Amino acid sequence: MTKKTFYITTPIYYPSANLHIGNTYTTVAADAIARFKRLTGYDVMFLTGSDEHGQKIQRIAQEKGVTPKEYVDEIVAGIQKLWEIMDISYDKFIRTTDEYHKKAVQKLFKQLYDQGDIYKSAYEGWYCTPCESFWTETQAVDGKCPDCGRPVEKAKEEAYFFKMSKYADRLIEYIETHPDFIQPESRKNEMLNNFLRPGLQDLCVSRTTFNWGIPVEFDPGHVIYVWIDALSNYITALGYNGEDKSLYEKYWPADVHLIGKDILRFHTIYWPIMLMALNLPLPKQVFGHGWLLVDGGVRMAKSRGNVVDPVILVNHFGVDAVRYYLLHEIPFGSDGIFTSEIFIRKTNSDLANDLGNLLSRTVTMIEKYFDGVIPKPAEKADVDNELIQLALSVPAAVEKAIDELKISEALDHVWTLIRRTNKYIDETTPWILGKDESQKGRLGTVLYNLVESLRIISVLISAFLPTTSKKINAQINAEVTTWDSLASFDGTSAGTKVNKSDIMFPRIDVEAKIKELDKLVEDQRKLTRKPTIEPVKQEITIEDFDKIDMRVVKVLECETMKKSKKLLKLKVDLGGEVRQVISGIAQNYKPEDLIGKYVVLVANLKPVTLRGELSQGMIIAAATEDDSKLFAISVPGELPTGSIVR
Ligand code: ME8
Ligand code: MG
Repeated sequence: MTKKTFYITTPIYYPSANLHIGNTYTTVAADAIARFKRLTGYDVMFLTGSDEHGQKIQRIAQEKGVTPKEYVDEIVAGIQKLWEIMDISYDKFIRTTDEYHKKAVQKLFKQLYDQGDIYKSAYEGWYCTPCESFWTETQAVDGKCPDCGRPVEKAKEEAYFFKMSKYADRLIEYIETHPDFIQPESRKNEMLNNFLRPGLQDLCVSRTTFNWGIPVEFDPGHVIYVWIDALSNYITALGYNGEDKSLYEKYWPADVHLIGKDILRFHTIYWPIMLMALNLPLPKQVFGHGWLLVDGGVRMAKSRGNVVDPVILVNHFGVDAVRYYLLHEIPFGSDGIFTSEIFIRKTNSDLANDLGNLLSRTVTMIEKYFDGVIPKPAEKADVDNELIQLALSVPAAVEKAIDELKISEALDHVWTLIRRTNKYIDETTPWILGKDESQKGRLGTVLYNLVESLRIISVLISAFLPTTSKKINAQINAEVTTWDSLASFDGTSAGTKVNKSDIMFPRIDVEAKIKELDKLVEDQRKLTRKPTIEPVKQEITIEDFDKIDMRVVKVLECETMKKSKKLLKLKVDLGGEVRQVISGIAQNYKPEDLIGKYVVLVANLKPVTLRGELSQGMIIAAATEDDSKLFAISVPGELPTGSIVR
């Protein structure tokens, strides 16, 4: 019998920086679905990759003084390493710089040109480089990109255009007659009302102002628009327009393109129109998931300097804590929030307390009462049947949730069983049964049921938390781990020995860990954040500037001030006149560093009293915004004190 196929894709990522946990979400979610489909008998193709062309990448490479290819090679290796760390079971990783992909894209571009869907004209408008998006004069309000709010750049050039408008009516009809195509539902109306119904403009699909892209074969001064290049990956990866089309024939159309909601427009308008023009079937579903936000409700994004590095979390809490968090905290189609506090409390309650405890209690009791050998079950009591019935009903509920891409809900079903099983321990009180030899049979049944429930839980979580599932299997020595074995409550073989081992999710001091993680995240953000440059102040005239009287002074005396970490008290020589100055540079200078130095004083600043001391002027210093680095401007040689600085 041939298996049913399932083809799932993630977006291909821009190798413009290291990925953050927001980006990681899409891929972890796709991985969970792919693993679940394999578990439930599908022949799965799970595709991910990298989107390596475009002006943005070319610019970054230029700034770093390397070729674009050298630059992307390094970042892409990092992305692949990250997927290894995150346990991503992709079947194929496509790079848009792969030769076969470039050839296939050139070929489809030519086909569209030959059949008249792409034509040559001139482009005039606005371009947002970070988004690689074109906008018209009216769309680019105040010279800003309507998607991301960053400034757009004027672009005018000879270019190729795609006749989007020709297919608009067909696409509207398709969307209206295929309610599952755009999910969640709410996003469908946004696409129809905001983009399709107002009328589609033809899309500019080539560029001449940079060359890091796939050249138009028949007009090599042009490179193909990066979104045409990128979207094609979903079919070129399968061999479309290549030498071996068997994967394409087997897996296309995709069952689901899983993407973030920001790129829905590209996937539900441009991509289907490209496919219609190529006379290919459309993907069955495009699912636009929500954002991972940070505290305060703003989107986590590299451009905002508020990202969290998944590797830090994995190193401290293990890969499955991170996977669980991502899969559980972003409910179907909505946004989720990352804070150290939510992350740590969740890990502790759901993984360490609920799941970890269930396993360690069960295995410990089997060791204690049955020398580690899983006992045979005897007659069942009502309380057993209640547990068994729930255990037998959860698989179908999980499967239904996954079919609807409600991953968080699927996990809720599994945790209902985990919590019910913990409650079963409290109800059956095995520690009391263990004291009474005549209850040995009953105790055996209870412990068998616990192991069997754990085995079922382990199979159920295997798609979401693969490492944890393997650890559970190892400890309870599970032999049968197939999906089909969940249809009855007897897959555990009595007589097998358990292997007690380390605690899976060690208990943590929650409050201390929250503080620790907050600090780790903040320290790393500081490293990656570009220093913000304050905008230059309003223009002044030379006359304005001339009002400021700056002089070279020599530091005669310098001492720290009581009760202040920041302030130093200086006596300076201003051409014979000795002045006292209070200066906020103590974090960077010890008094002895300054004595004898020639520095610059604003000499005509109105005197003030600081902490009870008179300050007659101000020492000039260059500093970072937070004063963490600071240098008093000094004169690199002796000058008569009182010399003018201008
Ligand atoms: O868009 N929470 O690549 P990309 C959740 N190359 N998801 C987030 C997120 C957040 N805070 N921030 C980003 C591209 N994402 C194109 C795709 S596909 C043919 C080409 C998601 O690296 C974002 O929505 O900018 C997108 O799905 C993915 O990360 C990659 O973004
Ligand atoms: Mg993006």
